[in-house]
This record gives sequence, C-alpha cells and structure tokens, in this order.
Amino acid sequence: MDMGTGSGIQAIAAARKREVHEVTAVDINPNAIEEAFKRSKLEGVSGKIEFKVSNLFDGLGCRKFDWIVFNPPYLPSEGTVDETSWVGGEYGCELLLRFLDEASKYLNPDGRILLVYSSLSGMDLAKIRKRYTVTLLEEKPLFFESLYCIMLTPINPSSDLTKIL
Ligand SMILES: C[S@@+](CC[C@H](N)C(=O)[O-])C[C@H]1O[C@@H](n2cnc3c(N)ncnc32)[C@H](O)[C@@H]1O
Repeated sequence: MDMGTGSGIQAIAAARKREVHEVTAVDINPNAIEEAFKRSKLEGVSGKIEFKVSNLFDGLGCRKFDWIVFNPPYLPSEGTVDETSWVGGEYGCELLLRFLDEASKYLNPDGRILLVYSSLSGMDLAKIRKRYTVTLLEEKPLFFESLYCIMLTPINPSSDLTKIL
C-alpha cells in the first residue's frame, strides 16, 4: 500500500515490479488520486493498482498489507489553506503519529512499513522505537534538513503513540 500516494510515484514504482501483484494507492486528496490514476495508465500499470480516496486508513475496512509505504507531510502548519501535501499538523508530526498508531493493524504477519522520515518532523526516532523496530536504510543530508528512509517492524502494538507526544 502506498499511503499519501500524491502523484502515484511510489505506487507506480511498486507496480512495475514483477513480484508485486497488487498495490493500493491512498490519498486524502481526490485530485491527487485522479492524477495518479491517469499517470498509472500512461505507465501501463493501472491494472495492478487500486486507487482510494481516504483519510489515512479510514476507508480501508479490515484489509491487510505486506508493505505500507508512506512519505508523509511533516511540516508544522502556517494556517494557510491547501496544505495537506506538506503539513502534518499544528506541530508537524500529528499525522505521522496517527499513521504509526494505526498502521500495524493493517499489516500482515511479517509485514513492514517503509517510511520517509525528516529531521524536521518534530518527533524523535526514540518515540517510534517504543512501537516499532527501526532500521535505517538510507540517509540524505540536505542543506536545511536530513531525510531518512527507514523500515519499521511492529513490536509493541498496545502502546499509544499519540499519548507520548
Ligand atoms: C509529501 S506528499 C507525498 C507524495 C508522494 N507519495 C511522494 O512520495 O512524492 C504527502 C501526501 O500525503 C497526502 N495526505 C495528507 N494527509 C493525508 C491523510 N490524512 N490521508 C491520506 N493521505 C494524506 C497528501 O495529499 C500528499 O499527496
């Protein structure tokens, strides 16, 4: 599953892989879903991708996934409209915390999460480690922030991350 699919870039990359049979691409923004669908058609992989408009997992019922990929919005709000692509809440990390709280319920046994994590996300990795084993896969230092690709394996589904903010 590609959460917050946006342009569909992750979903399409996954669908291109021979070993991937089905991808679910989710976004809260219907325009993003429409564009991602068009792009997947151009790329010839629309048959492998199901597109859904949903606020995180709200519209997904009790489905489970082997992998969930998320490049979340993580910047603090400046109170302007149309911020859902990059703003993760008042402090920046609220959406990520909600996602991390819910995501483990939607994973198959041995399922994993691939997450883009930023030094600007307003929460440290210690909080994520209360709930998941964190494996750093890649790090990219930029001028004003560092970006990380991390893999998460659920270890403690009962702790409520939103309460430790
Ligand atoms: C940083 S962009 C990532 C886009 C794309 N996946 C990529 O990697 O380039 C974050 C995406 O999350 C979506 N998003 C924001 N809030 C969401 C929510 N509550 N539920 C689902 N998607 C959400 C935004 O619409 C946006 O497309």
